[in-house]
Amino acid sequence: MCGIIGFCGYLDAKDVLLKGLAELEYRGYDSAGIACFTKDGIKTIRAVGKVANLANRLPAELESGCGIGHTRWATHGGVSEQNAHPHSCGKVTLIHNGIIENYHELAKELEETGRLPVSQTDTEIAAMLIDSFYEGDALSAIKKAVSRLEGAYAFCILFSDQKDAIYCIRKGSPLVACQSEEGCVVASDMVALLRYSKEYFVLPEFQVAKLTKHSITVTDLDGEPVAPVMLGIHWDMSAAQKNGFKHYMLKEIHEQPEALRRTIAPRMKKGEFLLPDFTEDGIPDKLFLDAKRIVIAACGTAMHAGLIGKILMERLLRLPVSVEIASEFRYADPILDEHSLVILVSQSGETADTLAALRLAKEKGAKTLSVVNVKGSSIARESDYVLYTHAGPEIAVASTKAYTAQLAAFYLLVLRFAYSMGKLSEQEVSSYMEELAAVGGHMEQVLEQKDTIKELSKRLTPSHDLFFIGRSLDYALAAEGSIKLKEISYIHSEAYAAGELKHGTLSLITGGVPVIALATQEDVFPKMISNVKEVRARGAMVVLITKEDNNAAIEQGICSEHLIIPAGNDMFAPFSAAVYLQLIAYYTSMYRGLDVDQPRNLAKSVTVE
Ligand code: AGP
Repeated sequence: MCGIIGFCGYLDAKDVLLKGLAELEYRGYDSAGIACFTKDGIKTIRAVGKVANLANRLPAELESGCGIGHTRWATHGGVSEQNAHPHSCGKVTLIHNGIIENYHELAKELEETGRLPVSQTDTEIAAMLIDSFYEGDALSAIKKAVSRLEGAYAFCILFSDQKDAIYCIRKGSPLVACQSEEGCVVASDMVALLRYSKEYFVLPEFQVAKLTKHSITVTDLDGEPVAPVMLGIHWDMSAAQKNGFKHYMLKEIHEQPEALRRTIAPRMKKGEFLLPDFTEDGIPDKLFLDAKRIVIAACGTAMHAGLIGKILMERLLRLPVSVEIASEFRYADPILDEHSLVILVSQSGETADTLAALRLAKEKGAKTLSVVNVKGSSIARESDYVLYTHAGPEIAVASTKAYTAQLAAFYLLVLRFAYSMGKLSEQEVSSYMEELAAVGGHMEQVLEQKDTIKELSKRLTPSHDLFFIGRSLDYALAAEGSIKLKEISYIHSEAYAAGELKHGTLSLITGGVPVIALATQEDVFPKMISNVKEVRARGAMVVLITKEDNNAAIEQGICSEHLIIPAGNDMFAPFSAAVYLQLIAYYTSMYRGLDVDQPRNLAKSVTVE
């Protein structure tokens, strides 16, 4: 949450900061602000709302080569200009991503020194605290302040008497930095660095980076130099742009077949038969052979990918698997030991609850494997093993290509380990791998149905409530369809196990209520069709999704709309069915005139609890 950027160099700082903030805006968009060194000292400008509002406020004559910028997702204090970052106190001006948990106690202490906040934010208290320790030595003030701060933070700090220098420190919240001929840049994530460099580093926790026009120095809190570990950037600028699509979400939906290829291809080694290979990822067979229990912990869409993973693993590995919401898991005192394998799933690799779940799992002696999209992110760095999804940058808040890439990662893991555990033969694993390689093509076929979905979505636009139903893998997918729809269309929706409807929810099904029924799983198909008839009998407007090979079994009048995915093994149906659900959410939001890419109250990367 919150996007932060700092620049020191030979370009116009306000341009660099505005571009960076636009690229980081998906992390929060309640307000935005910048502070720059000018010939008249530090100038701060802030605005409520999106970065575009801030851009309209910036005076053209603002000349600077060094400054910091922030786009906010409100935690402490409402959405107002007063609460927008940067915040200043005395000689200190800073921006912050995170939450200072003991700010109330610190505020009381600082009040005694005559420092009174003007905002309701925890961030201003951090600025006051650093200023209270500052006597000309930035490092010493930061060190003293950090010893008092509890919670998570990434700070970029300006000291008014240290012109054209930015100091940065972090704990929990991310910060990455790079240097180029044009200057030095620090940001919350690598997307904002793409235009400047092909190399960057992650600032280690509790170490201080000092950016000047021509260098970045990193030291520990005692001033001892530290050499940061450089990482390569494999994404290019175009990967983070809309490339002719109206929204990032639509672009990312279309990118899925290619994203899947990037997840699957590096692990698809052709030998005598097709078998996923994780040699380059460094994931040994032993990891699964030793496991007696698997726990998948994640949040939101990533957790929904885990629901599919659980079904696959239990089915093919015959190991007990549970899927845990990371924010619950971390406080639940879970039963884990050295025979437990905990799989963390996260697009950003920075989700605070998932990171905490990982740390807890390690503390309890479990082995950890993360399925992550963003290279070098905290979850990736701290896990014992990482499987990168390589889906490319995902900018829309609603996750699409990251989700299907996470699914692909689960299929690869399950197929490899089912083989190494002796549960699948060479022939079986090969044939499943062929099916997996074909799902990109199936998704393309669904993408061709865009116009049908547009029309359907127009009809869904006035709905107040909508239900997704399914069984088995379809139920797991229904959960994803529901979150997608509600997060961007603001229509209330629920995902229900179809067999559970009659235990309460059926009372909500009345004339015209839309029900999206997923019936792609052969073993439960007749049961599912009975459930569809039950809602139809109550007047629901049913959108039925089935496989091509089930066409004959669909009776006339059973649904208002019948959407078909290509024929194939049921186990792989979630990929193409997911595209229908994503398109429905996308077009419904669009026809409602909403901000598809940046839905209200949400942010892409949830780095606070
Ligand atoms: C998905 O559409 C959501 N925006 C959200 O649920 C997201 O998947 C969740 O916050 C987890 O994020 P992560 O994958 O970066 O950990």
